[in-house]
Amino acid sequence: MKAYRAALLRFDDQQQPAYDRDGLLVIGPGACGRQLVRAVGAHDALIGRYPGVAVQDLRGHLIAPGFVDLHIHYPQTDVIGAPAAGLLPWLEHYTFPHESRFHDKTYARGVAEFFFDELQRNGVTTALTFATSHPASVDAAFEAAQARGLRFITGKVLQDRHSPDGVRDDTEQSLIDTEALIQRWHGVDRLGYAITPRFAPTSSEAQLRGAGELAAKYRDVWIQSHVAENVDEVRWVAELFPRSRSYLGVYGDFGLLRERAVYAHCIHLDAADRALMRETGAAAAISPTSNLFLGSGFFDHVAADAAGMRYGLASDVGGGTSFSPFHTMLAAYCVGREGHSKPGLSLTPGQLWWQHTAGAAQALGLDGVVGNLQPGNEADFVVLDPQATPLLARKTAQASSLDELLFALIVLGDDRVVSQTVIA
Ligand code: GUN
Ligand code: ZN
Repeated sequence: MKAYRAALLRFDDQQQPAYDRDGLLVIGPGACGRQLVRAVGAHDALIGRYPGVAVQDLRGHLIAPGFVDLHIHYPQTDVIGAPAAGLLPWLEHYTFPHESRFHDKTYARGVAEFFFDELQRNGVTTALTFATSHPASVDAAFEAAQARGLRFITGKVLQDRHSPDGVRDDTEQSLIDTEALIQRWHGVDRLGYAITPRFAPTSSEAQLRGAGELAAKYRDVWIQSHVAENVDEVRWVAELFPRSRSYLGVYGDFGLLRERAVYAHCIHLDAADRALMRETGAAAAISPTSNLFLGSGFFDHVAADAAGMRYGLASDVGGGTSFSPFHTMLAAYCVGREGHSKPGLSLTPGQLWWQHTAGAAQALGLDGVVGNLQPGNEADFVVLDPQATPLLARKTAQASSLDELLFALIVLGDDRVVSQTVIA
């Protein structure tokens, strides 16, 4: 066993932040052989129970759960900052040509290694991640994640139409490849597979039907896709699927809405869509830096809460502009201010932080596993330096409450704040 002494942040069952100014985090192997949180709380109350345990003194730092990124594309690491008139031209001019390179496994592995370095530098310990349509891109990412001991989920993108040569796949082969990848990777070490139709416009009905059949056959495999991101896209889906009630309804019609299904964006939904999200247990991945960059719109937090939908925060790199959870939380806050509700919504720092840790884990069906530092959780955490920059040091020194401390980190923080990311 091993222990860490520092300020400690975690979340209780009511999604509220719990904080120890002088805390102790005790880590030790569980029955599974993995390093788990064994105890957490005030240093003085706990230390007597662990005589002889080595304690690393990190006072002056804040230990918090590793961040969970609910939606990101590793092959788009080099697409960040590609300007376009909106989603569809961005896909056509930048994203598809770039993703066509990932048939080459050596190239894919190189990008994957850089991607995981970047996640780690930014304190992200679990990510639900798109690969590309090439099975080699999935193997490359899983092999890199496995070597790092990460809890990590990805899948081969399904896109058999309205896609250029180089990324378009073949309907039947794409489903054979998906099942083979599930069998090769799902549940190996800390890895999980996600059935990954890119979005409704780029999959034929046969491909969506096959994806839904696999989702029914492998119930604990994840599903990930995009929905209702952009008004042109929504219009296109209505033309392509005239029999479905809505864009989200397309996924429901093909058996792709259930627990462990995560849909990026969920901006242009109506009340019936939100009710469908809640009834099926599907979750939204809110991607505010992407939505601002691509001019897609604003996620409606108030309507999502009223419907009882699950959601969490996501970077959506490369539509998103930053790997940093701090940047994503700040963007979510700004969207809340300026978005749908009048007067503007003021998400609290605790809500924002929960949405990028324990809340995102809950959306994945991984509550109790990652995203928190309660006993039994896997020991993925970050060590944050509240004095990482002169302005942060000045600001956090004046913080008179947990909210003020967390807000200072959200507004002024970035990768410089993350002094260590500890994986298991
Ligand atoms: N919709 C379909 N593909 C994509 C993608 O790669 N990024 C985003 N943001 N939306 C999409
Ligand atoms: Zn995306």
